[in-house]
Amino acid sequence: MKDASPQPIHLTDYTPPEYLVDDVHLTFRLDPTATRVLSRIALRPNPDAVSKRFFLHGEGVKAISTKIDGKDVTPRSVEHGIEVDAPDAPFVWEAEVEIDPQGNTALEGLYMSNGMYCTQCEAEGFRKITYYPDRPDVMAPFTVRIEGDAPVLLSNGNPTASGDGWAEWTDPWPKPSYLFALVAGDLIAREDSFTTMSGKEVDLKLWVRPGDEGKTAFGMEALKKSMTWDEEKYGREYDLDIFQIVAVSDFNMGAMENKGLNIFNTSAVLCSPETSTDANFERIEAIIAHEYFHNWTGNRITCRDWFQLSLKEGLTVFRDQSFTADERSASVARISDVIALRGRQFREDNGPLAHQVQPDSFVEINNFYTATIYEKGAEIIRMLHTLVGPEAYRKALDLYFERHDGQACTIDDWLTVFEDSTGRDLSQFKRWYKQAGTPRLRVSENWEDGTYQLTFTQNTPPTPGQDGKDPFLIPIAVGLLGPNGDEVRPTEVLEMTEGSQTFTFDGLPAKPTPSILRGFSAPVILERDTSPEERAFLLAHDTDQFNKWEAGRSLAKEVLTGLVTGDAAPQAAYLDALATMLRDDHLDPAFRALALQMPGEDDMAQTLADAGVTPDPDRIHEAAETLRQSRAEYLQDSLPRLMAEMTVDAPFEPSAEQSGKRALGLQLLKLLTRLDGGKAAQSQWEKADNMTLSLGALACLLDAGKADGPIADFREHWKDDALVMDKWFMLQVGHADPANAVATVERLTRDPAFTMKNPNRFRSVFGAFAGHPAGFHQKDGSGYRLLADWLIKLDPVNPQITARLSGAFETWKRYDADRQDLIKAELNRILATDGLSRDTTEMISRIRGA
Ligand code: PHE
Ligand code: ZN
Repeated sequence: MKDASPQPIHLTDYTPPEYLVDDVHLTFRLDPTATRVLSRIALRPNPDAVSKRFFLHGEGVKAISTKIDGKDVTPRSVEHGIEVDAPDAPFVWEAEVEIDPQGNTALEGLYMSNGMYCTQCEAEGFRKITYYPDRPDVMAPFTVRIEGDAPVLLSNGNPTASGDGWAEWTDPWPKPSYLFALVAGDLIAREDSFTTMSGKEVDLKLWVRPGDEGKTAFGMEALKKSMTWDEEKYGREYDLDIFQIVAVSDFNMGAMENKGLNIFNTSAVLCSPETSTDANFERIEAIIAHEYFHNWTGNRITCRDWFQLSLKEGLTVFRDQSFTADERSASVARISDVIALRGRQFREDNGPLAHQVQPDSFVEINNFYTATIYEKGAEIIRMLHTLVGPEAYRKALDLYFERHDGQACTIDDWLTVFEDSTGRDLSQFKRWYKQAGTPRLRVSENWEDGTYQLTFTQNTPPTPGQDGKDPFLIPIAVGLLGPNGDEVRPTEVLEMTEGSQTFTFDGLPAKPTPSILRGFSAPVILERDTSPEERAFLLAHDTDQFNKWEAGRSLAKEVLTGLVTGDAAPQAAYLDALATMLRDDHLDPAFRALALQMPGEDDMAQTLADAGVTPDPDRIHEAAETLRQSRAEYLQDSLPRLMAEMTVDAPFEPSAEQSGKRALGLQLLKLLTRLDGGKAAQSQWEKADNMTLSLGALACLLDAGKADGPIADFREHWKDDALVMDKWFMLQVGHADPANAVATVERLTRDPAFTMKNPNRFRSVFGAFAGHPAGFHQKDGSGYRLLADWLIKLDPVNPQITARLSGAFETWKRYDADRQDLIKAELNRILATDGLSRDTTEMISRIRGA
C-alpha cells in the first residue's frame, strides 16, 4: 500500500498513450466479496506514441485470466499495473479479474455502501476495477453488462437490453475511464422528463434508497433548471436518452459527473424542508448544476492529464456560480463565493500547501482536488470573462466546443481558443495558472487640481518552490463616488500589467472616494490605508453591493483587531454604520444577513498574522464574543421590529427571498439570545416547522447553555436520519465552549451513532472541530493530539479523507512557538506511523515542510 518514498510525477514528462482504445465491453458478475469483471477491449497502436510499451494500470485486482486475441498471455507486474508483449497492430485484450467491493473502505473503485454497489473512478479508481489504460486522454465508447440479484442495475449511457438478473448499457460517447460508473441495488426513482432545445425527449431519474423518496423533489427541479440554463446561456444540449442521478450514503466527495449517471453523496442531493436547511438547499442546487454542467465541460471535452484538472473544474465552478447568480441574487452569491474563497483558498495559498492552478508536479492526484484548482480556477475564468466581456466570452466558448468536442485538452488549448477568438495575447494572463500565491495589491491615491490618481503596486509572497514572481495581469474594477455619495464615475475595469502602475481620472469637481476591486474583480488581497469614516461612507453609499459589504467587513475586522491587540479601536463608527445598514429595508435581507455575519475566527487569525501579530485563538474568540455583545446591546431597540419583519408567514419554500429573511432572522436571534438568555430561541425551537429555524434556534440554545433537553430530544427524534444526525454532531462541536471542545469531541466519538467508515459522519465531528479554532488550538496541545489520534486510526480505512482533514494543520506556522512545537510533534508522530498511506504521507510532509 505504501511506497517507501512516493515519487512525484511531472507535467513535462507527459507522453501520448502507446495504445488507443476503440471499444470497451465489460461484464460484471456482482458478488459482495468476489465480483468478477470480464473485459474485452479493442486496442490499436497510437501513431503519435513515442514508445511501443503495452502497459495497463491495475491495482488490487486479482487476475483470473488474461488474453490477447484469444490466446493466454502472462503479464509482468510493474508499478501501478502490468506490462505485456503486444502486437504492433490492432488487437483485442481480454481479462477476467476478481475484486472485493465489501472490503473496499477507501471508497474508490467498486465498493458497497448501505447494501448497494457503486463506483468512484475519478481520478484513478478505474484501475481498481480492471486492467485498463486508466488515463483521461484515452477515450472510448463503453458497453456494460451487469449480472446480479439487485433489482436495479445501472451504468453509463442508454439502456440497450435487459432480462432477469442482468442489464446492458451502452454509452456511445467516447469517454475516459474516470467517468465510468456502475450502480446496483434496491433503489427507487423519482422520474421526470425534459425536452431539449432541439425537441429531444430525455428521461430523468433520481435514484434513492426506499424511504428517501420524499427528499427528491427539489433535486429534480434543480436538474431541469440546470438543463435549461445550459441551453440558454451556453447553447449546450444534453446528448443521451436518459440522465440519472444516484444518491449514495458513503462518498468521499460531494458528487461525481460520470457520463449520464451522476453519483451523489446523499448530503449533496437529498433534501426536504423538515430535514434540510436553506443552506443545504442552496448547496444542493449548485452541486446538481455543477455535475450536470460537466457533461460539456469535463465529459465531452475532458482533460489530457491531471495537471489540467482546473480546465474542467475551474470552468465548471465558474459555470455553477453564474447559474446560482442567475437563479438567486447575484451580489449575495458573489459575496458568499468570496467568503468561501478567502476562507479556503487564500488560507491554502498562504501556507505550506500553496500550489499552482496548473501544478508542475504531484505525488497523489487525490490531494489536488483543492480550493486552488476549483475556486481559484473559477476566479481565473471570471477574470477572463471580465477582461473580454460577455459577448466575446460566449464567442470564445462556442469556438472551444466546436474545436475541441470529443478531445482531451490542456489549459493551453483553452487559452489558445481565447487568443484566437479575441485576438488578445494571453501570455501574461497565463501566470495566474503557473504562479501560486495570492497577490497583495497596495493602493495609494493622489488628488491635485481636479486630477485624481490611483497608484497600485502588486507583490506576491513566495510559496513553496516558487520565490520570485512576475507581475500578474490584474483586472481592477473601480468606480468613484462624490462627496455626497453619488457615483461620479461608473465602474471601469483597469488592466494592471506592471509591478507598479498609476491610473489617472480627470475632470472631477471634488476629491472622490474610490470603490476599488468592485465585485471582487481579481483574487488578490487589497491593502489600503483608509479611515473608518471612509469605510462607513462606502458601507452607506457604494452602489457596488460587494464593496458595500466589504466596507462593513473591514470595519468589523478593524474593531476585532483592536480588541485583540488591546488598543481598542473606536466601535462607534462601526456600530452606527451597521445599525443604519440593518434598518435599510431597501436592502435585500440576505445581503443584510451577510453584512451582519461576523468575520470568522480563522479569517481573523490570518488577518492578524498578515499584520505581523501572532494570533492567539483564545483572544480572538474572546474579542468576537465581546463584539457580539456590544452589537447586541447597541442594536437592542431595533431587534423586535426587525425580527417581526423577517417572519415568513407563507408555507416553506427554499427560495432566495424566504431564505434571506430566515438568514437575517437567525442573525438577529443570535443577538437577542445574548440579551434574553435564550427565551426567544426556546420559543422558536418549540414552534419551528422547518430545519432552518429549528437548527438555528438550537444553535442559540447551545450558545446560551440551555440546550441539554433540546439536544437529547433532537437526537431521539432524528436518530434514523443520517443526514440530520450529521447536523446534530456538527452543531455540538461547532458551538462547544472552547474549554470543552476536546471533551465534546471525545464524548461524541463514543456515541453509538459515530462511525469512521462514513465520511459525512467523520467530517461532521472532525471537520467541525478543525473549523473551531479556539477549540482546536488548545494551549496544552490536547486538540492536536486528539485529531492526530483519529487521523492515524482513519488512515488505513480511508486515506483520502484522512489526507483531506490533515489540512487542519496547514496554518500551523501562524501560531506561537509553543503551539508550533506541539503541532510539529503531532505531524512527526503521524508520519512515523507504519504503513501510512501515500495520500496522508504527502499531505503531512508538505505541511511539515522539508
Ligand atoms: N469531479 C467531481 C466534481 O468536481 C469531484 C470528485 C473528484 C468526486 C474526485 C469524486 C472524486 O464534481
Ligand atoms: Zn467538478
